[in-house]
Amino acid sequence: MDISVIGAGYVGLVTSACLAYLGNRVIAVDSNREKLASLKQGRAPFYEPGLDQFLKEAIESGFLEFSDSIESAVARSQVVFIAVGTPPLVNGESDLSQVMAVARAIGRSLDSSRKRIIVNKSTVPVGSGNWVEMLVSQGVQSVQTVPARASKSDAPVFSVVSNPEFLREGSAIADSFYPDRIVVGASDDQAAALMKQLYQPILSQSFEAPAYAPRPSSLATVPFVVTDLPSAELIKYAANAFLAMKISFANEIAGLCEKVGADVRQIVRGIGLDKRIGANFLSSGVGWGGSCFGKDIGALMQVAREYNYTTPLLEATCEVNERQRLVVIKKLQEELKILKGRTVGLMGLSFKPNTDDLRDAPSLTIARQLLKMGASVKVYDPVANDICRDQHPDLDLVYCDTLTHLATDSDALVLVTEWEEFQRSDWKGLSKVMRWPLIIDGRNALIESDVTIAGLIYRGIGH
Ligand SMILES: NC(=O)c1ccc[n+]([C@@H]2O[C@H](COP(=O)([O-])OP(=O)(O)OC[C@H]3O[C@@H](n4cnc5c(N)ncnc54)[C@H](O)[C@@H]3O)[C@@H](O)[C@H]2O)c1
Repeated sequence: MDISVIGAGYVGLVTSACLAYLGNRVIAVDSNREKLASLKQGRAPFYEPGLDQFLKEAIESGFLEFSDSIESAVARSQVVFIAVGTPPLVNGESDLSQVMAVARAIGRSLDSSRKRIIVNKSTVPVGSGNWVEMLVSQGVQSVQTVPARASKSDAPVFSVVSNPEFLREGSAIADSFYPDRIVVGASDDQAAALMKQLYQPILSQSFEAPAYAPRPSSLATVPFVVTDLPSAELIKYAANAFLAMKISFANEIAGLCEKVGADVRQIVRGIGLDKRIGANFLSSGVGWGGSCFGKDIGALMQVAREYNYTTPLLEATCEVNERQRLVVIKKLQEELKILKGRTVGLMGLSFKPNTDDLRDAPSLTIARQLLKMGASVKVYDPVANDICRDQHPDLDLVYCDTLTHLATDSDALVLVTEWEEFQRSDWKGLSKVMRWPLIIDGRNALIESDVTIAGLIYRGIGH
């Protein structure tokens, strides 16, 4: 199929490359010229394992190209994906200005040569399907200079569907090829059928798996879930809210464990083996972050407020998370007593491993609080140092290129992002250069005995 994807960020770029791999002719459109220049050379503007190689292959195959023109991309496409950002506003609502601009631009670009399916992949509040349809129509009308004369058969025909995205940064390619489900919300059966046809190779797993994203052995088919438009939009928010709630639940229990002398690691194993609960997203630590959870829960609560409906579970999920981010500060205070004048090294900056995404990262909350308390903050992240320096020039951080540099003269190290390389640290070597041998494991990711055998003091979360 001929496809355009508007917005070549984490979601749009991976979607474009995967659809191109499956044999579709894809035009990925972005308004950021700098980003486009790097993309045309097969370089992703962010860190995602395997993506650079994947992009290069897609470009070389001739199935993926890049453009800054929505108009020419739409003219050549049957299916147009909207994958622009929907960042949070201060009141928790989603900022829909990018979606609005793109929907109108799509409308201005439509012609009557064929029916177009406009697919909303951006995470948008309930009701946005109808709203996008209205904006596209406004775009259409804005270029019909003599509407009274335009015959009905000349009017562009289009249908808006919702296709929420569930990929995770860090495993985005595999998540796109092997999703747990594909959800399509549509009020037009023909549009839903076309989406099924587009996704058929994934639904039936009939494509040859790329070497860098092998197919899970247990996966035979992927469920295709067709819903109405508002339900598809709500599925995305509800899924993220539920995952965040699981983590906050584990963190709340972790706090109780510390009071009563229990070990949250044993508890989450004990409850996670129950199939009704499941082990994923039950680990305790410095809490959840990233570009989606906080933003999506905020938007969900905002929608509920519009209907005067209370959402105590969602509020508690956020409240527990805010408290949790500062648990490591309390532990540092317990161990070091005074933080003013101390040096604390943060192991990891990105909101989770295998990405350089710093949006709503717990590391930033922790760093800000330590700086406010008069501590000196050193940081080391395998991929996110430069991005942090660029995006947060206000933060007075000492950037380190190695763990040894981070540990040198530090009074404590705090593991904030569970990068794999941290689990293999030379603890003995690090203990020799530290001023005080304290490790706070903010993700319960380290092997406690490895750390203590090297003579360091180990403190985890909830045990
Ligand atoms: N990042 C994730 O893990 C993830 C997962 C699932 C869903 N989502 C949702 O998907 C959407 C996109 O998220 P993202 O992380 O990819 O965002 P992003 O900010 O990384 O990418 C958005 C892209 O859109 C481009 N853009 C903005 N306005 C444009 C315009 N007028 N024309 C063309 N391009 C334009 C930007 O330059 C940027 O490259 C959001 O709604 C997000 O909530 C994200």
